[in-house]
Amino acid sequence: MEVKGEIYRVAGPVVTAIGLDAKMYDLCKVGNEELMGEVIQIVGGKTIIQVYEETGGVRPGEPCVTTGMSLAVELGPGLLSSIYDGVQRPLHVLLEKTGGFIGRGVTADGLDHEKLWEFKPIVKKGDHVAGGDVIGVVQETVNIEHKIMVPPDISGTVADIKSGNFTVVDTVCTLTDGTELQMMQRWPVRRPRPVKKKLTPTRPLVTGQRILDGLFPVAKGGTAAIPGPFGSGKTVTQQQLSKWSDTEIVVYIGCGERGNEMADVLWEFPELEDPQTGRPLMERTILVANTSNMPVAAREASVYTGMTLAEYYRDMGYDVSLMADSTSRWAEAMREISSRLEEMPGEEGYPAYLSARLAEFYERAGVAETLSGMEGSITAIGAVSPPGGDFSEPVTQNTLRIVKVFWALDAKLSQRRHFPAINWLNSYSLYKEGLNDWFTENVAPDFVPMRERAMDMLQTESELQEIVQLVGSDALPEEQQLLLEICRMIREIFLQQNAFHPIDTYSPFEKQYKIMSSIMKWGDAAMDALKSGIPSSEIIKMESKDELPKVKFEEDFDGSLNAVLAKMDKEFAALGGK
Ligand SMILES: Nc1ncnc2c1ncn2[C@@H]1O[C@H](COP(=O)(O)OP(=O)(O)O)[C@@H](O)[C@H]1O
Ligand SMILES: [Mg+2]
Repeated sequence: MEVKGEIYRVAGPVVTAIGLDAKMYDLCKVGNEELMGEVIQIVGGKTIIQVYEETGGVRPGEPCVTTGMSLAVELGPGLLSSIYDGVQRPLHVLLEKTGGFIGRGVTADGLDHEKLWEFKPIVKKGDHVAGGDVIGVVQETVNIEHKIMVPPDISGTVADIKSGNFTVVDTVCTLTDGTELQMMQRWPVRRPRPVKKKLTPTRPLVTGQRILDGLFPVAKGGTAAIPGPFGSGKTVTQQQLSKWSDTEIVVYIGCGERGNEMADVLWEFPELEDPQTGRPLMERTILVANTSNMPVAAREASVYTGMTLAEYYRDMGYDVSLMADSTSRWAEAMREISSRLEEMPGEEGYPAYLSARLAEFYERAGVAETLSGMEGSITAIGAVSPPGGDFSEPVTQNTLRIVKVFWALDAKLSQRRHFPAINWLNSYSLYKEGLNDWFTENVAPDFVPMRERAMDMLQTESELQEIVQLVGSDALPEEQQLLLEICRMIREIFLQQNAFHPIDTYSPFEKQYKIMSSIMKWGDAAMDALKSGIPSSEIIKMESKDELPKVKFEEDFDGSLNAVLAKMDKEFAALGGK
């Protein structure tokens, strides 16, 4: 029920109202323009509201109304391909109504309420249905079948079920108690959608990015953070993950980053092709865009909105990947709102609840058995933008404690144009061991030991490099000089991967494995040659070794690799040795 109060004070995105009888997180219409806001604090007779739209010009004395409902999204066919703002208003509707993306007081449905969808029932009269059960399907895009589910808190016996073309607000199913079900359901964004139980992740998210899959894999249903300074590759990495990961659905949240970066995503994504199906990538993607010029309070809404959309598709039994770029901008919004509330600041001015909020967000990821017994997953990947790239700051540190994979971007690497600029020495994946069986069965029996060997070598390289800097590499024993050469190959051939090269941009596991084993093959043969008395300077001169880096860019990867490997055998044979 609507209760009408009055604005008492306006401080940026935070508005205080009096005369309201509100609950926490109630949605409010603020001021004459009915701006959208959410109750975030109630003190005495005062209700404090964070407003998701610009509050410029809003004055004390203007009306303020609570709706008695909390911020919720519309869930149903038509979500895929959509581009929304932080409160699920389609950007194209904002554009039509106001000529810009930051129109005020515009209400717009998240779903098109007029479009007809062909509903195919899969339950019949007399069937008992409960929350999460699929009552019918709609072909939402060419490749994604949208499952129409009973809302989590409803159950009963089907009295009537329809078949044919309907809008998302038409009743398609009636239960014997009179409950009417539509294809659309609403869900409050702050409340996680329920599942039967969470399961342990056992499969990797296959990303086609060698350093991610090969050295620091994230599990499907896992959590990962990509921290890095400006320009180090957070957005490119998340875009690569969106394009190439083997999930059925992608939710991409652009949160508080500059408009032009988001524009790249907005203009580029619709052009992209889904490598799994050849269809437009947007057909399995939902974009939620809250750029830096949009109101800060809506950043938080954008994160929850995106997560709720992801949960909804997980509930259909899909694997969903969710990108948030950048969680730091969300944290900064929390800091701003908190300081307006004059709360006791925690570290660096962030509120004390920063870590709890981040944890709640990542906890909504996971592999789950859905209410109806299907298996779905959400893999959550958050970019973190620490000022100056300093990982000791609170957002990075708090995120580190929560997520299980840390892909640490490094400004030194990006300056050297080593991309992806992920530092292999301080990145890690806590899923690695748990996924070993999968790698052994699905990639190669020796993939895991080979990966560990490469990691050890890179570790040794970093230690040797300190010596090299002091005395030069000539002072090292020949064996170590060769080791440095192998590590250079691991870095330049395996780890470096050009997101913008048509072939190199995606590397299937088989190719990853062949690249790594070719490097190791050269390395082992080189060490043998050294032992049999051939000087390292001779071994390093080998032509085939210098041809190996080019192979990953070739259309005919296997053909060129085999040619290089054959040449390598010949060259080693020609070196002779004892
Ligand atoms: N994997 C990659 N391959 C090639 N270039 C990359 C890669 N990752 C990053 N870059 C380069 O770095 C630039 C900055 O990356 P970006 O993702 O926008 O940084 P951030 O989001 O961290 O500020 C890109 O425009 C691109 O030129
Ligand atoms: Mg970026």
